[in-house]
Amino acid sequence: MDKEKKILYSGMQATNTLTLGNYLGALKNWVSLYNEYECFYGVMDLHSLTVRQVPAEFRKNARSLYALYIAAGLDPEKSCIYFQSHVSAHAELAWILNCFTYMGELSRMTQFKDKSAKHEDNVNAGLFTYPVLMAADILLYQADVVPVGVDQKQHLEITRDIAERFNNIYGDVFTIPEPYIGKKGAKVMSLADPEKKMSKSDENQNATVFLLDDKDTVIRKFKRAVTDSGAEVKYAEDKPGISNLMEIYGGVTGKSFEEIEREFEGKGYGDFKLAVGEAVSDELAPIRKRYDELMADSAYIDKCIKENDDKARYVSNKTLRKVRKKVGLTELIL
Ligand code: TYM
Repeated sequence: MDKEKKILYSGMQATNTLTLGNYLGALKNWVSLYNEYECFYGVMDLHSLTVRQVPAEFRKNARSLYALYIAAGLDPEKSCIYFQSHVSAHAELAWILNCFTYMGELSRMTQFKDKSAKHEDNVNAGLFTYPVLMAADILLYQADVVPVGVDQKQHLEITRDIAERFNNIYGDVFTIPEPYIGKKGAKVMSLADPEKKMSKSDENQNATVFLLDDKDTVIRKFKRAVTDSGAEVKYAEDKPGISNLMEIYGGVTGKSFEEIEREFEGKGYGDFKLAVGEAVSDELAPIRKRYDELMADSAYIDKCIKENDDKARYVSNKTLRKVRKKVGLTELIL
């Protein structure tokens, strides 16, 4: 396939507000990469349905996520930011790809195992085939690169397996995508338990920093962050608390671990925690401000959604038409 620029594709689930993990593991990289690539970013609302949602809240969260993408620095005029559920090609290709995906490979997905343990009363088929919808998202846009956090790496691997399997049967239909995982912040851990990933749904209020937290809240959460024994600011496997804070500080400031160690030589954990809290809240303040402005401008958001949905439909339908033809579905009579 001839492409002027390589294609970047990514997205996030439309549940709750984003966390610092989503930001450092994904969104910040999206912003830094978007000049080099032709970019598509989805608000992944169909994926969110695998967990029961309260409809009015869900709708609000999805729109809020759309605005947050822009507030964090994505430009809806230069990249295509759209809603997954507004482009029916996603669900259609997911069905076709379901028929090229094995139960065995889906049952090996760690996210499926984790989520089914967490939502024992609702282990639905969507949760099981979730990675197939994700593969459809990526493959529809012929993506070359997919910037994600470490937790999505396995889903990228299955996407590549499905694409290769399909290409082996039908020829060169899909581009095989590569994951892009940033050097820092690819796995931000909980502030309350540094052995656990920072997550939107953590019940502990102090575990997770949200993108829309105000300055006082951010600083308070970092002051309370669990650290390790000892007093030295040093990156080490047996210091998961401090190492996590160093990942965060490095992710936000761009400083290396050596630079951070030097900066805090002779200073205690207290000073370091405060510095991390301040650096994070300085990074988030302009995002929060821009977010508030965007949410007050409904007409602008609507215009962006409409234009970008149309573009996403156009691009994805090209791939879908090809797939339909390859697998032998009867052509549409228009
Ligand atoms: P989601 O919504 O769980 O997370 C969105 C992005 O944030 C990253 N992330 C983290 N990175 C570092 N530390 C953390 N603690 C942390 N928590 C989350 C995730 O790795 C992800 O990059 N299945 C995807 C959504 C999706 C998608 C796609 C992504 C659907 N279709 C197509 C890429 C391409 C998900 O649930 O992400």
